[in-house]
Amino acid sequence: MNNPNNPAVSFHHVNKIYPNKTIALQDISFTINHGKFVTFVSPSGCGKSTVLRLISKLSEVSSGKIESNIDRDKNELAFVFQEPTLMPWSNVIDNVNLPLKLTGKSLRESRTIVQEAINLVGLDGFERSYPRQLSGGMKMRVSIARALVTQPKIVLMDEPFGALDEMTRSKLNSDLLRVWQERIKTLAFLWSKKVPGFQLFTPKKLVF
Ligand SMILES: Nc1ncnc2c1ncn2[C@@H]1O[C@H](COP(=O)(O)OP(=O)(O)OP(=O)(O)O)[C@@H](O)[C@H]1O
Ligand SMILES: [Mg+2]
Repeated sequence: MNNPNNPAVSFHHVNKIYPNKTIALQDISFTINHGKFVTFVSPSGCGKSTVLRLISKLSEVSSGKIESNIDRDKNELAFVFQEPTLMPWSNVIDNVNLPLKLTGKSLRESRTIVQEAINLVGLDGFERSYPRQLSGGMKMRVSIARALVTQPKIVLMDEPFGALDEMTRSKLNSDLLRVWQERIKTLAFLWSKKVPGFQLFTPKKLVF
């Protein structure tokens, strides 16, 4: 079912019109296969975040159809936002552990998975640091590690590197490619045309 080349998410002639009559998406069709890294590129306001909200079922289509075998209720989907949204009073371990804690697991049970995710994003040695002691890029790494601990089938990233400087962004881009190859099963990634650097990504691109 989750083999590469099997669809994880398919949009069929999707339209999304918000209650205030804004047409956010018009006749959009595409497929994201399992195991793929898909980048959505468009100018601001063309509906990228709307696509992610529809995939994650935070919003409903107005017409058309979305097929998906991702179950959000079973933690099969994880979201990484533009801002790292970390708990300022918790250290790196506790921030990364949060999704597992919410499933009722103790840190003792989760510790190996949490440490593995921290190592994967290159933050070993910073386990006991608090968000205020980390750079913007490091906070984003914590946010990515947190998205990985439930071992989701798909990770959605809404312009996660947009607020970072170009050097940090470029380093995180290449690290994200490695993390995706090693761990993430399927990745849908948003990139605004106003932010330089999206051409660095080699995987599949959908340009609005
Ligand atoms: N909740 C909402 N209610 C009404 N209109 C909305 C809502 N959310 C988004 N829109 C509108 O839908 C269109 C697409 O918005 P969306 O946020 O999906 O674009 P985007 O491509 O993610 O933009 P950006 O690159 O600036 O993040 C825009 O015109 C926006 O104003
Ligand atoms: Mg957006």
